Amino acid sequence: MNYDVADLSLASTGARRIDWAERRMPVLRSIRERFEKEQPLAGLTVGACLHVTAETANLMRVLRAGGAEVALCASNPLSTQDDVAAALVADGIPTFSIRGEDDDTYYRHIDAVLDMAPDITMDDGADLATLLHTQRTDLNPIGSTEETTTGVIRLRAMAADGTLRLPVVAVNDSDTKHLFDNRYGTGQSAMDGIIRATNMLMAGATVAVIGYGDCGRGVAMRAEGMGAKVVVVEVDPIRALAAAMDGHRVLTADDAARVADVVITVTGNKHVLRRQHFDQMKDGVVLANAGHFDVEIDLEVLGEMARDRRPVRNNLEEYELADGRRVLVVAEGRLVNLGAAEGHPADVMDMSFANQALAAEWLAQRAGQLEPGIYTLPVELDREVARIKLDSMGAGLEELTEEQKSYLAGWREGT
Ligand code: ADE
Repeated sequence: MNYDVADLSLASTGARRIDWAERRMPVLRSIRERFEKEQPLAGLTVGACLHVTAETANLMRVLRAGGAEVALCASNPLSTQDDVAAALVADGIPTFSIRGEDDDTYYRHIDAVLDMAPDITMDDGADLATLLHTQRTDLNPIGSTEETTTGVIRLRAMAADGTLRLPVVAVNDSDTKHLFDNRYGTGQSAMDGIIRATNMLMAGATVAVIGYGDCGRGVAMRAEGMGAKVVVVEVDPIRALAAAMDGHRVLTADDAARVADVVITVTGNKHVLRRQHFDQMKDGVVLANAGHFDVEIDLEVLGEMARDRRPVRNNLEEYELADGRRVLVVAEGRLVNLGAAEGHPADVMDMSFANQALAAEWLAQRAGQLEPGIYTLPVELDREVARIKLDSMGAGLEELTEEQKSYLAGWREGT
């Protein structure tokens, strides 16, 4: 079996963490039980490019239980949990990922997965899909799945210019994914990463959140819950208004840069923080990025502006500017929740990865029948995922009476 991981001796630690995550993933467990019986992925190879975490390891196990051969590489050079990667290899799953790998190794690892000629590809950020449309046009999978907002935006751009040649399930568009993973997962794990890296007190700090999509909203909510004064920066007037009515101060990036103790980018866009903002920041400001790619903070310019640079703690680097101000950057400006913490908790990845497993099954059932395009899983599957999750939480779901159903279906009865 081919593989490339940092240290196989970490396998037993990784296996324990995978088992712990599994305990908190009841929806995925129920899918695994069904997959074991029904074998919906028998004879297929699934090639995945996802963050290599304990939660992802559980998804890999479920796909294998469904009859698939699976291979995995990282979807970010800094998000791999080396112990998990080792445990996957020990468990017979070809895994290619090393935390901190350079760009060449990162792409070599993606190629190693594509070399297995996957029937289904699974992306977090659309790197596999992009290569399938550029360098690996020799491959012709049944379809692909996409985990994250950034990846879906990239794929929609491919569809818009007529390049997309595959059916892709946008897992991110399922309600049980983006309303929970993006909001509660990113909210908690981004704050977790910043706190692990800095050990700073959030109470009383001014935290600027740039971008108020589902993820930014979650980060703002959690920062506020810890006592921070939250400032939001948005370009979309509706989102900006939502932020204002959620009780946050809404400012331009220039104004936010002047007042913030912590700035967190969550936009999916490039150079959100750049020279004009660095010029105005307070001494000791902490910068973190919770967007998918490390393009949101212009670190090249910050490097040019710095007269010195030094690591001050794990995952925390200080840039000393020419005028003596210090700017601290968490996890090299890469995804802070995975670079400086462990990513979203298993409880919420449970639903995201349930959708991934169901998306693979949905594609397998429709092999050769789907036109290239972006698909969303049927709403019944979304509701089923929510129902199983609620059940595992001991929640009770109310049902409409027959009288209520006919009232809602009719229009004559008003008073
Ligand atoms: N994305 C965010 N958190 C994650 C996790 N724990 N595992 C895999 N992908 C993630």
